[in-house]
Amino acid sequence: MKIVVIQGPNLNMLGIREQHVYGPMKLEQIHAQMKEFADQSNLEIEFFQSNLEGEIVDKIQECYGDAHGIIINPAAYTHTSIAIRDAISAVGIPTIEVHISNIHRREDFRKENMIAAVCSSSVVGFGPFSYHLAMVGMTQIFQELAAAQDAQKKNQEQE
Ligand code: DQA
Repeated sequence: MKIVVIQGPNLNMLGIREQHVYGPMKLEQIHAQMKEFADQSNLEIEFFQSNLEGEIVDKIQECYGDAHGIIINPAAYTHTSIAIRDAISAVGIPTIEVHISNIHRREDFRKENMIAAVCSSSVVGFGPFSYHLAMVGMTQIFQELAAAQDAQKKNQEQE
């Protein structure tokens, strides 16, 4: 099973940007931890970061037929991007939205969320640990999908 991790604008600046909000960890360190978890869980994982909305839309579209799960932190685009929302909806791949900070406790404009409604679930406000929780959540989604497929197969065999 393959997970694609998509990181939005300014997340390449983690470790430098607003450390009081996002902490000192760099994106590479977060990805190294996710890779370790993926290796232990026998999952394939790919990482992508872009500051450009269209590139993020392209990447989500590329996931169609290639990835089984998407973990995405759309960063500021969370609050504005109908294009990213539509792309997630179009590919129909289980998607978990991640935020390092608790967007519900911050400025009012961060309470606007274009993305959450088309995602399987969201992990918000655990710092970089949000990404680890999303990995655990995605393995759970994969297990549930496999169990549902097994049950469907058994039903068909009985018909
Ligand atoms: C963020 C929250 C967004 O509001 C912000 O624009 C980001 C990071 C987070 O991970 O907490 O860039 O997505």
